[in-house]
Amino acid sequence: MLMPRGRLITLEGGEGAGKSTQIRALTLALKTHGVDTAATREPGGTPEGEAIRALLLDGDPDRFDGVSQALLHFAARREHLRQTILPLLDSGTWVLCDRFADSTMAYQGYGAGLGRDLIEAMHRISIGTFTPDLTVILDLAPEQAASRLDQRNEARNSYELLDQAFHDRVRAGFLDIARREPERCLVVDASLPEAAVTAAIFEAIEDRLGVP
Ligand code: TYD
Repeated sequence: MLMPRGRLITLEGGEGAGKSTQIRALTLALKTHGVDTAATREPGGTPEGEAIRALLLDGDPDRFDGVSQALLHFAARREHLRQTILPLLDSGTWVLCDRFADSTMAYQGYGAGLGRDLIEAMHRISIGTFTPDLTVILDLAPEQAASRLDQRNEARNSYELLDQAFHDRVRAGFLDIARREPERCLVVDASLPEAAVTAAIFEAIEDRLGVP
């Protein structure tokens, strides 16, 4: 029997928007519906990607300029797609991914100011026309996100240390991406209770992708 191809669902948004919590809840919900589901993240998802993640997130935030950062994110992504995501989709598994190409557009394209054209060119070179089946953007005001991060009491990564204006541009970038591609993107208010956010996402998965 020919296995139906899996679907790629990406979760995007600023820091502290609750992506990992939602990925855990959605993985459980999909598995409960009998869907074979795997969770992964960027930067990361392969040993090579995790090594690039350490380069990008630990150490001096200024050691790579914006273009180098974007290239590293896309190199990690190309390997992630090639080694992990595409084989899973081919085997019929649904993949939930914590951040993907929209993060590079929002953080490096809008946040760091590299612009859409440069990021789109890097996208084409590294992963062609590949896009997720559904992208969920968890939208939260950066001030609210900062107070959530304070409560977590974890060390901040190099992006989390950037100023409020940077995070405002990142948020506006994600919302602009969603406006440009409404068929692929869903914006969810991440200030709602966790269960309400999960329910809104799951409803969109059922409506747009159909849960088998
Ligand atoms: P992570 O600890 O996963 O943060 P979060 O829990 O907020 O997702 O760190 C990933 C960081 O990398 C995050 O600050 C966003 C940044 N990033 C980019 O700047 N560009 C990218 O392409 C990706 C994938 C992440």
